[in-house]
Amino acid sequence: MLDKIAEKFGHEFSYDEALIGHAAIEATGEALPEESLQKMKNSDAVLFGAVGHPKYDNDPSAKVRPEQGLLKMRKELGLYANLRPIKLFDELLDASSIKPEILKGADILFFRELTGDIYFGEKGRKNNGDTAFDNAEYSKYEVERIARKAFDAAMTRNKKVCSVDKANVLETSRLWREVVQQVAKEYPEVQVEHQFVDAVAMLLIKDPKRFDVVVTANLFGDILTDEASQIAGSMGMLASASIGDGTGVYEPIHGSAHDITGKGLANPMASVLSAALLLDISFGLKEESNAIISAVDAVLKAGFRTGDIADASTPKDKILGTDAIGEEILNRL
Ligand code: IPM
Ligand code: MN
Repeated sequence: MLDKIAEKFGHEFSYDEALIGHAAIEATGEALPEESLQKMKNSDAVLFGAVGHPKYDNDPSAKVRPEQGLLKMRKELGLYANLRPIKLFDELLDASSIKPEILKGADILFFRELTGDIYFGEKGRKNNGDTAFDNAEYSKYEVERIARKAFDAAMTRNKKVCSVDKANVLETSRLWREVVQQVAKEYPEVQVEHQFVDAVAMLLIKDPKRFDVVVTANLFGDILTDEASQIAGSMGMLASASIGDGTGVYEPIHGSAHDITGKGLANPMASVLSAALLLDISFGLKEESNAIISAVDAVLKAGFRTGDIADASTPKDKILGTDAIGEEILNRL
């Protein structure tokens, strides 16, 4: 897709490839080898595949795990803001398990904090291994910078921010709410609401249209965006951007889907749309980015589907595999 964009718009992209996750562990013993990290730092943007392997999921004692590569990359590149746009292509209104009248017009931009929280706090075992702990921590500075990103984005959209926490129970959430309230004062035009995470889990399904920008902590954001993917029909449709002060990383929100490995069934649209986000955010190439989104839209309008977004009414000959639907997108670029 990027080569086609380069050709069409007169750009030249230069690529480098780097190993991370299971493939890196197999080759080097490490989930994120130093060489890969350096390549990322030397690039203007990173287009990321997907991480995970069932071998490790079934072995809780594994010391080196693919996900560590992803987490280390986020930390080392300072990618504190994870943008997950949830936008439903009109043609997929019936692909979701949510009623079309509830869904139509839903357009949410999630800001998930990505380098703090329970993900990165001290973790370990005590009492001879009988007790485990994961520490959740946030500093004012960490909350403030993600909150600002969310409010800035809201100013370019419908000027609504929903901050999600669990301030009725967690101290980190009380700090979170305090800081968001402070930042909100700098954006008098933005309408702010604070909601508990359990309520948001319910509201996303009940009335997704009530949300515009949602900002939340790392773990809550991880969980809520998988849920919200159903608003867009499938996890296979959702792209994300992770940004900080340097190189940005663009990746589908889904994992490596080993249940369908080698079958050629995976929906490539989340990856393709991640490349569109890359062009827009890291390179400022809005027109090029829109060209990719339009090509995906055109393929959906033509009735083509991968299995995850097909429904009972999809004709069998319109259900395509990964390569074939990729070709259809490319042909429309
Ligand atoms: C995601 C993924 C990762 C996360 C996993 C693979 C560590 O689920 O990007 O949402 O929890 O952040
Ligand atoms: Mn996740």
